[in-house]
Amino acid sequence: MDTNSTHPQAEDLRSGDVPRPPGDPFTHLDGAVEEDQSHVIRYLDAAAAHHEIQRMRSVAFDAFAPAPGERLLDVGCGAGEVARQLGAGVGGEGHVSAVDRSALAVSVASSRHDGTPVDYTVGDISSLDAPDGHFDGVRCERVLQHLPDPDAAIQELIRVTRPGGRVCVIDTDWQSYAWDGFDHMDEVAEHFPFPNPGAGRTARARMVRAGLPAASALPVTLRFTAPEDAASVVPFFDPHALDICVEPDLRRRFLDSVHESARRGDFLFAFTMWITMGRVAGH
Ligand SMILES: C[S@@+](CC[C@H](N)C(=O)[O-])C[C@H]1O[C@@H](n2cnc3c(N)ncnc32)[C@H](O)[C@@H]1O
Repeated sequence: MDTNSTHPQAEDLRSGDVPRPPGDPFTHLDGAVEEDQSHVIRYLDAAAAHHEIQRMRSVAFDAFAPAPGERLLDVGCGAGEVARQLGAGVGGEGHVSAVDRSALAVSVASSRHDGTPVDYTVGDISSLDAPDGHFDGVRCERVLQHLPDPDAAIQELIRVTRPGGRVCVIDTDWQSYAWDGFDHMDEVAEHFPFPNPGAGRTARARMVRAGLPAASALPVTLRFTAPEDAASVVPFFDPHALDICVEPDLRRRFLDSVHESARRGDFLFAFTMWITMGRVAGH
């Protein structure tokens, strides 16, 4: 390579070289570069289709237990997959509000409307456009990990829930990961900028502090035995995310080691997500 050249060589162009606005594309999806926008939507779809996420969601669905006729809220709804499942659960007499800060996510979610009683709107978890006590239940999956002030978000979820209603927060503990068969995991994980990597683990304490002392916390550990299977759920194995977050030399050493592990058949990775449920005091 000509090191004096100001023009990058084709082989040196990585996704990480695309000029990017500051901030995590999961919190600032509308302002992200197009490449990252489509990547986020693809990521949400791949995760929704993954058997481990489906297993976790099935546990969460049973814990939240939507009932016919209920008025529910899914905040940070992404592409709306779960909102539509909740819509089927509440039936024609019920209603689900699917809210996301991103107009792009909301437009993708609305384009997939399937006739279930769901409406899709743009809104921010820190100031929801709903009166106090409006919902029978509110749900929020994989959003708190991206937020600068998760406590304020939980307060707002509680505000819009009726007395006796439930608040369900589902999130990841990115610090819970366990692995075997390859090297450099900790070095790579350090480069991923989650504002709240322990969001799942700390959600119960946040709910208790916010006035829901009986909040329950249910851990679900997701496990992967092939890197390409992990890549659709875990950003540490996603080449696009690695490209953006990790410098090339470490990225190469990590992926070489991961691929070698896959070749031997001894790749193993697991992490825990937490389903935290509280009930607002009252009838
Ligand atoms: C990782 S995605 C999860 C989407 C969906 N809950 C799921 O589990 O598939 C995070 C979502 O939260 C949304 N989000 C981020 N910050 C938000 C905020 N302050 N208020 C509402 N939604 C937000 C993002 O736009 C994105 O759609």
